Amino acid sequence: MSDDDKRLAAEAALGEVQDGMLVGLGTGSTVAFLIRALGERVRGGLGIEAVATSIASARAAEAVGIRVRDFAEVARVDLTIDGADEIDAWLHAIKGAGGAMLREKVIAAASTRMVVIADGSKRVAAIGAAKLPVEVLPFARAFVTARLEALGAAVVLRDGVTDNGNVILDARFGAISDPAKLAAAIDAVPGALGHGLFLREVDAAYVASAGTVELIER
Ligand code: 5RP
Repeated sequence: MSDDDKRLAAEAALGEVQDGMLVGLGTGSTVAFLIRALGERVRGGLGIEAVATSIASARAAEAVGIRVRDFAEVARVDLTIDGADEIDAWLHAIKGAGGAMLREKVIAAASTRMVVIADGSKRVAAIGAAKLPVEVLPFARAFVTARLEALGAAVVLRDGVTDNGNVILDARFGAISDPAKLAAAIDAVPGALGHGLFLREVDAAYVASAGTVELIER
C-alpha cells in the first residue's frame, strides 16, 4: 500500500469531475487525497458542489472550500468517487473498513456514475478475504450476529457507533463463493441495515500500482 498510489488514483479520477456537477465524496484515506485535490480545483474556479458519505468527509471537504449539501435534500448525484477495501476485475467490491458503507451505498445508488479509487493492494482476483462490515440496529445486535454466524461468518463487534448511531459487525467469511447470494441473504435479515458488498454499484475503478494507474471499466 502506498500513499503515492492512493494520490495517483485520486488524481486520475479527478479527470471525471466537470463544472456544474454534484459530486459524491466517499470516505477513507484514499478519498482524503481526492478531497484535497478537488479543493485546489474549486479554489481555482471549478464550480461543483458535493454531498458526503460521512461526517469526516464533509468536514474535510468544507475545510478545503468545497460546498457540501445535506444529502437528505438530494435525490440524484452526478458522480461519486469512493475508496474500497477489495475490488476485482468485475468491479465487485468490499467496502466499509472505515464504517461508512451504509451512507456510501445510498449515495452510490443515487449516482449516475460511481468510480472507485484504490492503490494496488486492494486489487484482488476474487473478493472475500477482507472482513465484511454489516451495519446493525443496536437493538438487533445479538440476533444479526447469530444470523451471520449461521451464514458461515466469524463475527466481531466493532468498537464505537456509526455516523447513523448504529453498530458494526465485522463478518469474516474467508472466501465468498457466491457474493450475490450472500448479499441477498444479509439484505433479508431484519436489523441488518447495510453491508459492504458492492456488486452492481461500481461503474469503473482507478487502481494505481507502483506509479501506474489502471482503469477498470464495466
Ligand atoms: C469506508 C470505506 C473506504 O472507502 C474503504 O475502507 C477504503 O479506505 P482507504 O482508502 O482508507 O483504504 O469503504 O467505509
